[in-house]
Amino acid sequence: MSPIKKELPPYTDYTFDMFMTSAGKDHAEIIQFNQWRKEVLAADMYTFQIPHLGAQCPNVSVQRVSGEELDLISFANYNYLGYSYHPEVLAAAKQALDVYGLGATGSPVLNGTFQIHELLEEKIIEFFGMPGYGVSLFSSGYGANLGVVSSFVHKGDYVVLDRLSHASLVDGAVLSQAAIKLFKHNDVHHLERVLNRLDYKNSRILICTEGVYSADGDTGHVRDIVRVAKKYGATVLVDEAHSLLIAGENGRGVAEEQGVLEEVDMIIATFSKSFGGVGGCLFARESLTNYVNWYARSRMFSCALDPAVTGGLIKALELAAGPDGEAKRKRIQSNADYMRSKLQGHVDIGSSHSWIIPVIFGDEHISIPMSDYLQREGLDTSLMSFPAVPKNQSRIRLFVTSEHTKEQLDRGAEGIIKAAEHFGFLLKDRKKQKEL
Ligand SMILES: Cc1ncc(COP(=O)(O)O)c(C=O)c1O
Repeated sequence: MSPIKKELPPYTDYTFDMFMTSAGKDHAEIIQFNQWRKEVLAADMYTFQIPHLGAQCPNVSVQRVSGEELDLISFANYNYLGYSYHPEVLAAAKQALDVYGLGATGSPVLNGTFQIHELLEEKIIEFFGMPGYGVSLFSSGYGANLGVVSSFVHKGDYVVLDRLSHASLVDGAVLSQAAIKLFKHNDVHHLERVLNRLDYKNSRILICTEGVYSADGDTGHVRDIVRVAKKYGATVLVDEAHSLLIAGENGRGVAEEQGVLEEVDMIIATFSKSFGGVGGCLFARESLTNYVNWYARSRMFSCALDPAVTGGLIKALELAAGPDGEAKRKRIQSNADYMRSKLQGHVDIGSSHSWIIPVIFGDEHISIPMSDYLQREGLDTSLMSFPAVPKNQSRIRLFVTSEHTKEQLDRGAEGIIKAAEHFGFLLKDRKKQKEL
């Protein structure tokens, strides 16, 4: 137990898994969770789901439970290129809203497909510049992974997942009823050992990896995975949620950056990140997207993508494909390099080499007071604890955008280092603790 923990009030004993399992017929875990929540709210320490009072810009205002409003510098949103509030994107969304109304009010398979959806599909194919390919649109990135994985593999097949795969890929694998196998994060030798043990000559195998991993900010070893997959006749899916429009010379993602875009079988995009909207898609050969359009349950049994958002997404894509995108890609890279240089040597930023920078503090018990502390220091940050990361690997995630100024990055780094000093996870303090 760290010395600081002893001084903290009892709600810091909280861990996410405390109320996760059924405690019997009287729903004790629900009652206990609500007691815990009441206690944190009463202490004005609840920083989760805090309402933001405007768009996700580098400067945001939030309202705490007490009603107090705070102006913060945001490192907590995925609006990597600032398109969620770009005037041209908003104008395009408003125009689509006037034509198509608020919602699609129907499944895309039935009445919910509008002309603007087809236009977005065409724009995505044009962006990748790959004829013969198609797009399958979903109303969320989560739904895209869920629907694509579960419609592509079935009972008797295999899904081989990187151990750090996003929950949506894991859930898709569970829904598919295929056998699930895990390989060590980015370890292609281990992947090969896993594949070797399967009846690969006779079975369908789907390997899932990601462009940029959102817990560590490191890059998937896509090129090596593709090479091994070919040897075993496996299909490769790359979730480019955090990398599309940013990585690669033309923003086509990590698969482009590693020179294997045409060899990857399925690319997943989410529109909730660099596009600044919401939704997701599969980009793959047209024969496959036609099939997924028809069979993915999260597409068939869910309303189509919001038409106004779709209008905004088309504009965001147009901008990202031109000089605006090129300039933003350069800026986000140099901002991320700058932020890392400010933090390196002070705190543990793991293996990040992207615009996602984790600050690993370990002990999940300090998550709540630290999140409160950072807000008081003027920072909006994203905390991640078990089960999203292994126990004792809790972290603050910093999402650097192309829109942050140098001054904002400086203030962010100063606030993090101050928090590390306060909660005892500066690298130099950790070293001393180890020596004792
Ligand atoms: C790697 C990855 N895939 C998929 C998703 C789900 O995307 P969405 O939030 O757009 O549903 C996320 C969300 O953060 C993600 O990080």
